[in-house]
Amino acid sequence: MGSTKLILVLFCLLLIISSSSAAHKKKMQARKPCKRLVFYFHDIIYNGKNAKNATSAIVSAPAWGNRTLLAGKSHFGDVVVFDDPITLDNNLHSTPIGRAQGFYLYDKKETFTAWLGFSFVFNSTAHKGSINFAGADPLMNKTRDISVIGGTGDFFMARGIATLMTDAFEGEVYFRLCVDIKLYECW
Ligand SMILES: *[C@@H]1O[C@H](CO)[C@@H](O)[C@H](O)[C@H]1NC(C)=O
Ligand SMILES: *[C@@H]1O[C@H](CO)[C@@H](O)[C@H](O)[C@H]1NC(C)=O
Ligand SMILES: *[C@@H]1O[C@H](CO)[C@@H](O)[C@H](O)[C@H]1NC(C)=O
Ligand SMILES: *[C@@H]1O[C@H](CO)[C@@H](O)[C@H](O)[C@H]1NC(C)=O
Repeated sequence: MGSTKLILVLFCLLLIISSSSAAHKKKMQARKPCKRLVFYFHDIIYNGKNAKNATSAIVSAPAWGNRTLLAGKSHFGDVVVFDDPITLDNNLHSTPIGRAQGFYLYDKKETFTAWLGFSFVFNSTAHKGSINFAGADPLMNKTRDISVIGGTGDFFMARGIATLMTDAFEGEVYFRLCVDIKLYECW
């Protein structure tokens, strides 16, 4: 008798918890971003000739490649570390407002796709702090979403989604990404 009562109480509790979390989920989906930021960043990959201008370098390559040129097989296995300027418009020569720092690694042999882990680091009058990003980047797609997993300073506890668009690329030396950041948690 006692145990049936307990089970009943537990069952009711479970029902309440699950219905309230479902309601929460619905509310989250309907939410609009609390902050939206659009930036560009520019990556110039070292290719053996552009040491002065390069902002990124291949730091690891598979056995069939080297660290001077991106490997065949969709660059599979290459790891690139970058320290790229961030600008407000799509001009590489605009005054940078921060740096995009981190790495990407190519992780599929059949097509160009990468995994990104990096931070936007700001130290200007407009923005101070950092925004941290991580996620898969199927870069043949016009737009890709990656996670905004955190932030510091002006972006304390930031969470959201960043939509990446390849704004331009020149061979395997230069590319420019447009990053449309939508934060759903702002403090
Ligand atoms: C480096 O950048 C400057 C200025 O944009 C450009 O004139 C020069 O051609 C570049 N050099 C290399 C090696 O890419
Ligand atoms: C790197 O590999 C490329 C081919 O992928 C080749 O053309 C180049 O000579 C290699 N460079 C070095 C320094 O081994
Ligand atoms: C940010 O900029 C200020 C003023 O230029 C400088 O004193 C400070 O060291 C910088 N901080 C970082 C983390 O670069
Ligand atoms: C990539 O684009 C295709 C078609 O445009 C879409 O179906 C797919 O969901 C996209 N994938 C990602 C990860 O954005």
